[in-house]
Amino acid sequence: MSLGLPLASCSIDEAVSDNEYRERIEKAKQELGDRVMILGHHYQRDSIVEHADATGDSFRLSRMAADSTAEHIVFCGVHFMAESADILTNDQQIVSMPTTRAGCSMADMANVPDVEECWHILLEELDLQDPLSRENPDEIANQDDNFLVPVTYMNSSAALKAFVGKHGGIVCTSTNAKGVLEWALSRAGGLGKVLFFPDQHLGRNTAFKMGFKSEDMVVWDPREIPDTSEISAARFVLWHGYCSVHQRFTVNQIQNLRKSYPHAMIVVHPECDRKVVQAADADGSTDFIRRYCEDAPSGSIIGVGTEINLVQRLNSKYPDKEILCLDDSVCPCSTMYMIHPRFLAEQLESIINGDERNIISIDKQTSSDAIKALNRMLEV
Ligand code: 13P
Ligand code: SF4
Repeated sequence: MSLGLPLASCSIDEAVSDNEYRERIEKAKQELGDRVMILGHHYQRDSIVEHADATGDSFRLSRMAADSTAEHIVFCGVHFMAESADILTNDQQIVSMPTTRAGCSMADMANVPDVEECWHILLEELDLQDPLSRENPDEIANQDDNFLVPVTYMNSSAALKAFVGKHGGIVCTSTNAKGVLEWALSRAGGLGKVLFFPDQHLGRNTAFKMGFKSEDMVVWDPREIPDTSEISAARFVLWHGYCSVHQRFTVNQIQNLRKSYPHAMIVVHPECDRKVVQAADADGSTDFIRRYCEDAPSGSIIGVGTEINLVQRLNSKYPDKEILCLDDSVCPCSTMYMIHPRFLAEQLESIINGDERNIISIDKQTSSDAIKALNRMLEV
């Protein structure tokens, strides 16, 4: 089935056909050979994905970056993904993006000053301990320990990952959130807590999967005065952030699809609201969603709660299945969509000309703190 995707407004000359950009990109890739690796997130448009050397969810792409030996990594995704790639690659490798304007609005919902303020309030008012005070924060804590362990979703700035790394915490993605939260709880101790940011939904959905109840979780909104008695009863303090794309999915949409197609299978991303995840048949990362559609039997009707470029691509890839976006008013991630083939062509050509721009470079101190949190994740 084909859904029409509206073009995000941009200053690209749409009269120049994708074919011209395709030719420029292919020519540049040929000239660069092994010197360059193009990584593409699943939410990228088709005219970018066709040029990617590897595609994946943010976990797989961070692994690909860590394992790559290419001199240049051109990251077609959003800013925090390219930052992680820079942190995980060696000093000789150069990470860049076709445009650095492609950020993530959810990642921007948590910043270091706000998180530090929350951190100090929790430590002081709830009498929790900073894992920094431990000789080895990676060691499993005791039942009577009360550490506050920070966990950041991959969708966060390098500065926040560094904060987490410094304080004995860990990064997670939607692929490994359960294993990571188990890791964090075991380092917090029986009386400790986990501070999870920035996506409250991934935190909540994962904690429920681990068997916790709503009273074990509390939302932290830096604009509100915290209720410390509520927080002291909770095990998880969830930052108030959310994804504007995934919050568009509703239980109503699932019910309507099931009314029209009683055998429809429903899969959603865990950045969706708890009720949406509960009403779905399955939830997982973008790569999980891809595999779910791939593995579904021929003739399946699958309602998907995630970004439209991925849903449309899956629908074209499996013509024997009907793969629909749950939100029929279409939900693109506008920042992922900023990566246009013209920018990719220009980026590759700038590498050839030796005047590379759009470089993502994280300073040494931030990198060395953030890598601790990223490596803990890669080891889980
Ligand atoms: P994945 O890690 O599942 O690819 O998710 C990244 C993302 O930004 C989803 O909105
Ligand atoms: Fe960020 Fe949401 Fe876009 Fe993912 S879909 S990159 S979480 S804004």
